[in-house]
Amino acid sequence: MQTPLIAGNWKMHKTLAQARDLVKGIRDAVDGTGGGAPITAAEVLVCPPFHLLFPMAKALAGSRVMLGAQNAHFEPQGAFTGEIAVPMVKETGCTHVIIGHSERRQHFGETGPLLAKKVRAVVAAELTVIYCVGETLDEREGGKTYSVIERQLGEVLAKDVPAERLLVAYEPVWAIGTGRNATPGQAQEVHSLIRSRLSAIYDGRTAGTIRILYGGSVKPGNAADLMSQPGVGGALVGGACLEAADFAAIIRAAVGARSQAR
Ligand code: PGA
Repeated sequence: MQTPLIAGNWKMHKTLAQARDLVKGIRDAVDGTGGGAPITAAEVLVCPPFHLLFPMAKALAGSRVMLGAQNAHFEPQGAFTGEIAVPMVKETGCTHVIIGHSERRQHFGETGPLLAKKVRAVVAAELTVIYCVGETLDEREGGKTYSVIERQLGEVLAKDVPAERLLVAYEPVWAIGTGRNATPGQAQEVHSLIRSRLSAIYDGRTAGTIRILYGGSVKPGNAADLMSQPGVGGALVGGACLEAADFAAIIRAAVGARSQAR
């Protein structure tokens, strides 16, 4: 069974002082520096806003907690006011970049061809990409969930994206920040679809190595159920990652659920 990855997407939250507190709490829980046992059976990633990447890299020196960015431009440099390039986020110490989050698609007009370039820029810099897909409520209710997910995967992923640098996050848009999570069954169903599309792009064995995260209102109270589903390789957490105690509870729930499923 894959080691779960629990990623926290801070979105546009936290001042430097607040971020230092949050990261200290997460470190204490994951590294065991807070007095408890370290959590070694999960990989943990935090994705703060850009201005916090350097200070958080410093705050995480020597920690098992990894650092990621929420977005990046596809060009390595250039006249792109307000943007940040993949080599720049890499320089801060990031190992992962989230690409294609539904908020980028919805509010910033990001679409398949652009996201395909971004994904390739991330892997070209030898970072790991977390590529997000997910349907809106209208699409789900209109019976289009499968076709939307297939399109979002098909227009961005292909064999030239190394599988070892790829994670996929299934984030139903109707579940993000709404408090309404997908049921474990709904998550599992779409995760299976994603796995079969990945098998068609790569091959069954390779596709089996790619972790597929679930995201959308993951909380301490529902994490164990969601994370115990076969094929769910971790979580991308928004709101509940902004408090160290909640984020740590989700990580522990994921570890507990996986050890029971073994
Ligand atoms: P949420 O956000 O946990 O607040 O629903 C998840 C995400 O957007 O990645």
